[in-house]
Amino acid sequence: MKVTVVGAGAVGASCAEYIAIKDFASEVVLIDIKEGFAEGKAMDLMQTASLNGFDTRIVGVTNDYAKTAGSDVAVITSGIPRKPGMTREELIGTNANIVKSVVEQLVKYSPNVIVIVVSNPMDTMAYLVHKATNLPKNHIIGMGGALDSARFKYRLAEALNSPISDVDGMVIAAHSDSGMLPLTRLASYRGVPVTEFLSADRLNQVAEDTKVGGATLTKLLGTSAWYAPGAAVSALVQAIACDQKKLFPCSVLLEGEYGEKDVCVGVPVIVGRDGVEKIVEVKLNDAEKAKFAESTAAVREVNKALAG
Ligand code: NAI
Repeated sequence: MKVTVVGAGAVGASCAEYIAIKDFASEVVLIDIKEGFAEGKAMDLMQTASLNGFDTRIVGVTNDYAKTAGSDVAVITSGIPRKPGMTREELIGTNANIVKSVVEQLVKYSPNVIVIVVSNPMDTMAYLVHKATNLPKNHIIGMGGALDSARFKYRLAEALNSPISDVDGMVIAAHSDSGMLPLTRLASYRGVPVTEFLSADRLNQVAEDTKVGGATLTKLLGTSAWYAPGAAVSALVQAIACDQKKLFPCSVLLEGEYGEKDVCVGVPVIVGRDGVEKIVEVKLNDAEKAKFAESTAAVREVNKALAG
């Protein structure tokens, strides 16, 4: 399994590190536009191999896409992150140009690649990858819900004062502060609905803290987070590499599912060797349906900027 990670910055390097530590890929190519930067990150990571016990070969290159040829999976993290007070949507101008040029290079050398889109605004960037390539829709995966769901579980465990492994929950819809939809009704603690343990007010607080999860970290760090985003990407790459057929909420092209068409937005999907192997239609109640529709409408508004 050969994996390319475009962008050797905070998220790209973190995801390369987690992929290497889990030792399921033969090669990770880190590529960046900044001269020598990916080479440096790759060398530093390779010098952890004997300490962390992995055999994955990490190679760093500056802008030479020939070195990415034959990649099974490519992760796009290139672009600017947000600063405190910014929304993900404000990044569109710069990042759309970067993502378009990057994906065109990637498919030139790896025509059958599975692309995982991370750069923000992620749902719109995933849609852009559909428009800019002829890749089949199951080969384009936007990473947002996997991260948002991990943050949701963190907040649930905190509210229940329980280990994280005792809770389950998922976040669907847009990967934006206002668009995220944490499915509190379906969240569980040791297999029992959390609604049995937490008041409606407390659960609402959990949902609100989840939605601003990225913004909270951006305020603390001065830039956006990288450990959990890197781990979320590596979990998706592992699900593909090891054909795990695991369920993650991901931003994928909808063609009638959840009542939506011609838009990429977060829904639960099964991820395996062929990328998105199935879109899972969870039965939403009326309030959830309305929020999902509102969230998707906001993504469509952002997508309009791509036309210009
Ligand atoms: P960063 O600034 O640390 O790294 C970005 C890297 O991309 C830099 O090293 C830069 O040189 C490189 N780059 C820029 N243009 C390039 C090009 N044309 N080709 C190759 N490399 C290029 O940023 P960070 O923190 O790693 O974030 C990356 C992106 O991921 C941002 O857009 C951020 O908003 C997004 N993000 C998305 C998340 C999600 O859940 N979808 C979570 C966290 C971040």
